[in-house]
Amino acid sequence: MSRLDSAIRRLEAQRACLEAAARLIGELPGPLLEVGLGNGRTFDHLREILPGREIFALDRRIAAHPDCVPDSAHAVVGDFHDTVPKLLGLLGAPAALAHCDTGSGDRVASLELAAWLGPALDPVLVAGAVVTSDQPMAVPGWQVMALPEGVAAERYFLYRKGI
Ligand SMILES: C[S@@+](CC[C@H](N)C(=O)[O-])C[C@H]1O[C@@H](n2cnc3c(N)ncnc32)[C@H](O)[C@@H]1O
Repeated sequence: MSRLDSAIRRLEAQRACLEAAARLIGELPGPLLEVGLGNGRTFDHLREILPGREIFALDRRIAAHPDCVPDSAHAVVGDFHDTVPKLLGLLGAPAALAHCDTGSGDRVASLELAAWLGPALDPVLVAGAVVTSDQPMAVPGWQVMALPEGVAAERYFLYRKGI
């Protein structure tokens, strides 16, 4: 598969998983977390498919497209290791959905970050919250959810925190 095909499939998988996560949370109360704002593409998609939901976006710096920059009250800037442990005080209520898009070109570092991030996010998620991630996560109490049709195993990940 060419790198172009691979990139397209990854983006299609990401979109399908965001939309599956949005359906799964339904009316579950709580804000949404975009962990890895980056260019703001998936933040923009989340706000389009879940209009009216409050979204907090995290990144070490704001470098998103100008149309996709959250307001200052919803931009959580800094290293995840510093910001995630303080999230609950900021959110006001536990989150209903977290999208973690944190991978880099360094596969080992990406896996290590995700291995820390899952358990660190768990306390800020409401029971029944949905997590979708570009990296695998293994968190006690999180159920692995079936991927949407057309998304190959291991291309993206979908979890639900137990009730
Ligand atoms: C793949 S990009 C996110 C792309 C974005 N979701 C989009 O659709 O445009 C990953 C982002 O995670 C951020 N990131 C990675 N590790 C981080 C860390 N330890 N603390 C804060 N931000 C981090 C990077 O700065 C980068 O912007």
